[in-house]
Amino acid sequence: MLESTFGMIKPDATQRNLIGKVLARYESEGLTITHLVRKHLTLKEAEGFYEEHRGRGFFPELVAFMSSAPVVMMVMRGENAVSRVRELMGATDPLEAKEGTIRKEIGLNKGENSVHGSDSPASAAREIKYFFPEYK
Ligand code: RTP
Ligand code: MG
Repeated sequence: MLESTFGMIKPDATQRNLIGKVLARYESEGLTITHLVRKHLTLKEAEGFYEEHRGRGFFPELVAFMSSAPVVMMVMRGENAVSRVRELMGATDPLEAKEGTIRKEIGLNKGENSVHGSDSPASAAREIKYFFPEYK
């Protein structure tokens, strides 16, 4: 199924000049980047983006981190893009991520884990609309 998903390169990765490396990884897997923006999120933007986690213990730390330095936001298109990007990212905690995944390779810890990817087609639709309202 040809679909789109939303991805982010998180502050720990942009701060280490790893934007190109992450984008190259996705492109080499045959995903097409159709929208791309680098932006320093406000705390409120980060809170709205991670709304589903509001109330969890790690929420304040998560949104502070996500608004601490610029992120790169993108839409990627390809066959089964949502699940393929999740597989390429690896587990949330880089220590648990499989060999060859992005988080295994460049993630620092469970919080500073370098990349985000939508976890379902419904999340992808919401997240794309949140940051790319012009997306059709
Ligand atoms: P993401 O949404 O960023 O792609 O990550 P994910 O689906 O793999 O993980 P999720 O459960 O959605 O959690 C969102 C982000 O919150 C941070 N987190 N910290 N300290 C903790 O226990 C904890 N749990 C989650 C991570 O940065 C995670 O990516
Ligand atoms: Mg998630």
